[in-house]
Amino acid sequence: MAGRVQDRVCVVTGAAAGIGRAVAGRLAEEGGRVALADIDAEGAERAAAEIPGSAAFAVDVTDPASVEALYASVRERFGSVDVCHNNAGILLPDDTDPPATDLDVWNRILAVDLTGVFLCMKHQLPHLLETGGGSIVNMSSMVALIGSATPQTAYAAAKGGVLAMTREVAITYARSGVRCNALCPGPVDTPLFRNALAADEGGLERRMVHIPMGRLGAFDDIAGAVLYLASDDSAWTTGQALVVDGGITAAYTTPA
Ligand SMILES: NC(=O)c1ccc[n+]([C@@H]2O[C@H](COP(=O)([O-])OP(=O)(O)OC[C@H]3O[C@@H](n4cnc5c(N)ncnc54)[C@H](O)[C@@H]3O)[C@@H](O)[C@H]2O)c1
Repeated sequence: MAGRVQDRVCVVTGAAAGIGRAVAGRLAEEGGRVALADIDAEGAERAAAEIPGSAAFAVDVTDPASVEALYASVRERFGSVDVCHNNAGILLPDDTDPPATDLDVWNRILAVDLTGVFLCMKHQLPHLLETGGGSIVNMSSMVALIGSATPQTAYAAAKGGVLAMTREVAITYARSGVRCNALCPGPVDTPLFRNALAADEGGLERRMVHIPMGRLGAFDDIAGAVLYLASDDSAWTTGQALVVDGGITAAYTTPA
């Protein structure tokens, strides 16, 4: 039986680890031909070695030339670009409230989490349009929608910017066969999340009380949502933010 992204060329940034690695595996299980792109070239190679039919590519999403080369290389290798999951992102412990956040920290986070998504869309859209359209799935976050008493000002600003760009691109290309949506996960149990908690005593407990479903997100929760947005199951959906958060943003109070 054909998979849900059968034979589509799927480019996942930040695919060496965490959510990106899990999404890459899931897209391949559903018939996708997956390009795993990451600044950690060795990690991407290791991950690609475990995913049949995939290939690894080195990319720094903050570097315009590197991003342009990525999509050109994927097109050359696989013949088209059909699904783009712009997932690469960072979160730094020094990103807190505005007075305490150094401009360097702000700039580093914006460079990866916001400019990186812009550069990917800038250089993937021409290929998507030339090879028959496709689906862009940008990685935002729940923090683009609701605030927190444990502030991450630069991260939240970047993820909010991703949502705004997603809508603009969706409307601009709505009649050109390119859909563009964003994913807003709540806390997912990944190295990125655990690293953030390392500097935040009691941080896990403070977060858990706000999750109605009583658990952190798992890789499969996010991979399934990306697959939905990548595939024709979401054929009439564009410009949307899909929230996958165990009920956090729906809650006023949570079960005891
Ligand atoms: N983990 C969570 O709780 C959570 C929640 C909401 C959103 N997100 C978002 O999901 C995405 C993935 O997060 P994760 O938890 O899997 O993180 P992770 O740290 O496990 O993986 C991120 C990957 O991105 C790569 N990367 C970092 N900078 C890069 C660059 N400049 N160019 C290319 N690749 C680069 C890293 O090498 C790594 O492989 C991020 O955008 C993150 O903001 C995560």
